[in-house]
Amino acid sequence: MSVASFTSLTRCGVLAFRSPAGLLAVRYAQTAAAPAGQPRVKKFQVYRWDPDTPGDKPRMQTYEIDLNTCGPMVLDALIKIKNEIDPTLTFRRSCREGICGSCAMNINGGNTLACLNKIDSSLSKPTKIYPLPHMYVVKDLVPDMSNFYAQYKSIEPYLKKKDESKEGKEQYLQSVEDRQKLDGLYECILCACCSTSCPSYWWNGDKYLGPAVLMQAYRWMIDSRDEYTEERLSKLQDPFSLYRCHTIMNCTKTCPKGLNPGKAIAEIKKMMATYKEKTAAAV
Ligand code: SF4
Ligand code: SF4
Ligand code: FES
Repeated sequence: MSVASFTSLTRCGVLAFRSPAGLLAVRYAQTAAAPAGQPRVKKFQVYRWDPDTPGDKPRMQTYEIDLNTCGPMVLDALIKIKNEIDPTLTFRRSCREGICGSCAMNINGGNTLACLNKIDSSLSKPTKIYPLPHMYVVKDLVPDMSNFYAQYKSIEPYLKKKDESKEGKEQYLQSVEDRQKLDGLYECILCACCSTSCPSYWWNGDKYLGPAVLMQAYRWMIDSRDEYTEERLSKLQDPFSLYRCHTIMNCTKTCPKGLNPGKAIAEIKKMMATYKEKTAAAV
């Protein structure tokens, strides 16, 4: 086993390498399981496509794994395939504990994190793995996140003050109650499982911001320290950025962190109604 065969794309598309010692340690942690008498062979059908290879067409490739020698999560199976069967299989991963959001993919029909998704132990049913739906594919299970990140950047996801003269000189304090308003919002890891499960985002992903980005827009709108709430609302007034959400709630259903982006969008719509009344009255 060469070190290079353990490489895989990190979230930012960089190839990650580990030292031989690190490699052994990680492989042990990710694939060790108590050996049992009978092999428990399970099939994994994985989407493969390399757009940079002329003539290559998308296809499903089947791999067989003995679950007795594999860790419990789908990401363990993918790492085992890459390490021991097919080093060309490409996917993102980093933290292996639901924190980085890199390993978001579509597993058995649902968008989720491969590192938090337990392998279905039924041997008669193959596990089917695709990249996040309706995204351009860089290779195999790696979606192109450029548009998603550009949309995130567009909402200015950071604290904004009208008077910046105090920046770096004193703390911007917040009451316990105001801090609690951010619970259920700040935990988002930007995995894009929600946005890529949203039919409105599938069809208008270039103009509709989608649930993940809108939830972060809301997170800054209601931050008691931020002073740009109205400007943030004003940027979402067009027919697409916010109003393509039709409250289908696929987003909330699929979030692997148990968050509720659908509710955050509904709250923005309420804030927007008040904001529009206010601006109309001022004319
Ligand atoms: S809301 Fe959930 S599904 Fe959406 S990006 Fe955040 S963590 Fe991922
Ligand atoms: S609630 Fe809105 S954002 Fe969520 S899936 Fe439905 S349309 Fe998309
Ligand atoms: S590897 Fe980081 S969330 Fe799965």
